[in-house]
Amino acid sequence: MTLLSFPPGFVWGTSTAAHQVEGRNFNNDWWQWEQMPGSIRNGDSARVACDWSGGRYEKDFDRARDLGTKAHRLSIEWSRLEPREGEWDAGAVDFYRRMLQGLRSRGIEPFVTLLHFTHPIWFMNRGGWLDDSSPNLFRSFVARAVRAFDDLATFWVTINEPNLYMVLNYVLKGRPPGDGNILQALHVARNLIRAHALAYHAIHEVQPSAMVGMAHHWRWMTPANAASPLDRVSARLSDHLTNRMFVRAISDGVLPIPIGRGQSLPEAKNSFDYFALNYYFEDRLAFDVRQPNTLFAGLTPVTWLEGSEFESFGYAAHWSPASLYHLLKEISKFDRPIYITENGVFDIGDDVQSKYLVQHLVSLHRAIQDGVDVRGYFWWSLIDNFEWEDGYWLRFGLYHVDFDTQVRTARHVSKVFSRIIKENGLADELVEAYGRAD
Ligand code: FCB
Repeated sequence: MTLLSFPPGFVWGTSTAAHQVEGRNFNNDWWQWEQMPGSIRNGDSARVACDWSGGRYEKDFDRARDLGTKAHRLSIEWSRLEPREGEWDAGAVDFYRRMLQGLRSRGIEPFVTLLHFTHPIWFMNRGGWLDDSSPNLFRSFVARAVRAFDDLATFWVTINEPNLYMVLNYVLKGRPPGDGNILQALHVARNLIRAHALAYHAIHEVQPSAMVGMAHHWRWMTPANAASPLDRVSARLSDHLTNRMFVRAISDGVLPIPIGRGQSLPEAKNSFDYFALNYYFEDRLAFDVRQPNTLFAGLTPVTWLEGSEFESFGYAAHWSPASLYHLLKEISKFDRPIYITENGVFDIGDDVQSKYLVQHLVSLHRAIQDGVDVRGYFWWSLIDNFEWEDGYWLRFGLYHVDFDTQVRTARHVSKVFSRIIKENGLADELVEAYGRAD
């Protein structure tokens, strides 16, 4: 039995985010949004979610330990720690300390995200990221949070996917505040970048040994038809707006057009100690005159969801392990260790999650063989959870959750993942069973 081996000490982990698993986060913008009829599929809400606030994280952490994982990425909820401006909740600090201790006592290293899509209502009432004092408000929160938890964590993610937040919340408006325009979206992005940079330095002031990153959702963009110049322009433009302008800002310390005017932002220069990559799918772009809102870039329909109950979800999400390989090569140019802080797919039956996992790991292995310094891989997600506007419909968990009873049941993918972790590699038979990447 040959193995595609991973380097010794390679970090295997899983990911979650506070609002998606905790329940009872009544002081944030998502909770407000969920009260609006029609905002969440099937009228779901995160009132209870996976009930981590009721203590169910303990057993879920046992599951993470039993899988063999040595790291877990979770987020702390700003609105729980600071429910009203300047008011710090001691009970919430305690809650997260117990959680972080719970991970450590199981031999699991916490990777702590400081902002994962949800904001205190008081913060949004001040204008959210449109308010130019927002980066400083975030900085104060971060400094305080890191002081509260610095004995329990050294890996930090400042902000989760600012690019997705800019597009989904302010351009497509399917997420709170559900209002905005392109100019506001760019304004929001600018403040998120500033906030990231301030947070980066604030964390290092409290904890010089910290490892800090910003989780970037990199959508690999390709032209639907490589021979079409217009499709190629669409792909390049989308790539710039979705990926490059964000990563350039935090590496070169400039605000590229159109996020800025090319002016320098020295505090953002080199403001990441590792590259935190969230990768799911490739987008194939076709020039489309009917889509001025997206600068005439149209997303092409995917085939892998055809005929399934998820067909309506089927734009953009082209399953492409090969793109992960190309992307990792590209990211290696930043000369930082890379952690894949999210990768995964929802359960559509037929054990697709195991196929997705194995195929992406084959690509990842290839990149590591080529010398790319990838140190860890986190599956999204440990358990099914509240998948934002899709409620409990899209289920990314290694464990299925019955949200009426809170009963967890292992999916087959959890066994596959656990075997890979324990062998620190991919056995031939797994590669044969689940297919090689193209
Ligand atoms: C990512 C988000 C995460 C989850 C997964 C499926 O974009 O960071 O919260 O929704 O997608």
